[in-house]
This record gives sequence, C-alpha cells and structure tokens, in this order.
Amino acid sequence: MTASRVVVLVSGGGTNLQSLLDAERAGTLGDAAVVGVVSNRPGVRALERAAAAGVPTRVLDHRAFADRAAFDAALRAEVEALGADLVVLAGFMRVLTEGFLAGFVDRVINIHPSLLPAFPGVRGPAQALQYGVKISGCTVHFVDAGLDTGAVIAQAAVPVRDDDTEETLAARILVEEHRLLPAAVADLAGARLRREGRRVHRVP
Ligand code: GAR
Repeated sequence: MTASRVVVLVSGGGTNLQSLLDAERAGTLGDAAVVGVVSNRPGVRALERAAAAGVPTRVLDHRAFADRAAFDAALRAEVEALGADLVVLAGFMRVLTEGFLAGFVDRVINIHPSLLPAFPGVRGPAQALQYGVKISGCTVHFVDAGLDTGAVIAQAAVPVRDDDTEETLAARILVEEHRLLPAAVADLAGARLRREGRRVHRVP
C-alpha cells in the first residue's frame, strides 16, 4: 500500500481544499491524507476550513519576502517540514519557480478552471466568456515552471450558457473541480497514474 501525505497550498476561499477534506472523511481519498495547509495570504477562509478539520496550517505572506526566489525557498522548507509526498495547489495564486519545484519532481499538481491549454492564468471563466467558447471546464495538471503548462492529469467539461456571467460559469465549473481534484489525488496516492512525457496514463 502506498500512502500519500498531502500538503495543500491555498490563497483564498478553499472550496477545493474542502472537497479534499470531505473526501478524506468520506473515505474516498484512497491512501491520501491532508497533513498540512499553507497559505500565502493571512486570514483567508481556507485556513479556517483547515483548522476546523484539525489540519495544521502555516501562513507565508509573499509580501514579506524580498523576491520570488526567497519566497519559494521558504515555502519549500515549510512544505518539506510537513513531510509532503504530494503538493496540491488548490486556488493557490502564485507561480512557482524551479527553486520550489525541484524539491518535488512530478509531485506538484494544480486545479485550473478552464480546459487547458485554453485560458491559462487568472480568471479562466472570464476568459472563456470573453472568447465566446461554448464548452469550458476544469483541468488537473502537473505543475512545471510555466503558467499552467504542465502535463494534463484529468479534465471535465461543462456547457457555457448564453446568459452566463463570470460568476455563474465559475460556479458550474467549480462543481466539477470538487469532483475531479479528489479523484486525481486518490489516483496519484494509489500510484494508478504514470506520466510519459506529456501523456498521463492510467496504470493497467
Ligand atoms: C478555483 O476555481 C481554482 O480552479 C482557481 O481558483 C479557484 C479557487 O477556489 N484557480 C486558479 O484560477 C489558478 N490559476 P477555492 O479557493 O474555493 O478552491
């Protein structure tokens, strides 16, 4: 049996973090357990969610660091101290550099609210509406040093409706995020996925 100590990085509301905590409690997160939550913003709701579940929290305010390299080095030390096997970016709104990623090769994943490679970066649902696509969705992917460019692990699609606003489309996508992310974490913790280049396969 493999076991995965999962550290979740957050910046805001933490509904995706909640989906992981709920899945763990329901017994559907496989061999994974959320052992720590780190936020780059103090006072966010995600930290309250972690505390309510009895999960240790840390705050590393990026504004207190001289530059990105210093922040990433401190973040890496914090995540290593928590003993992470897998790092999950769940609404974490900072780009990570090699200084962080080198410590966790193929062990950092992100959830993004678009069907990548369309609409990377911030405000994926707003970008989808602006472009006028009829289908959007969400992506779980490995994190590399690019902006939402790592290999795709899983995707789910939702329709874009004529009367959608950024809020209504984001809410429809979020429902799928909350299903997709725990499933991906369970699959990774159970070693059911293998990456070959850009392609991630289910192990037969
Ligand atoms: C989610 O929709 C997530 O996909 C998105 O931020 C939201 C966080 O919600 N992430 C990005 O846009 C990353 N580029 P949450 O804090 O309630 O999980």
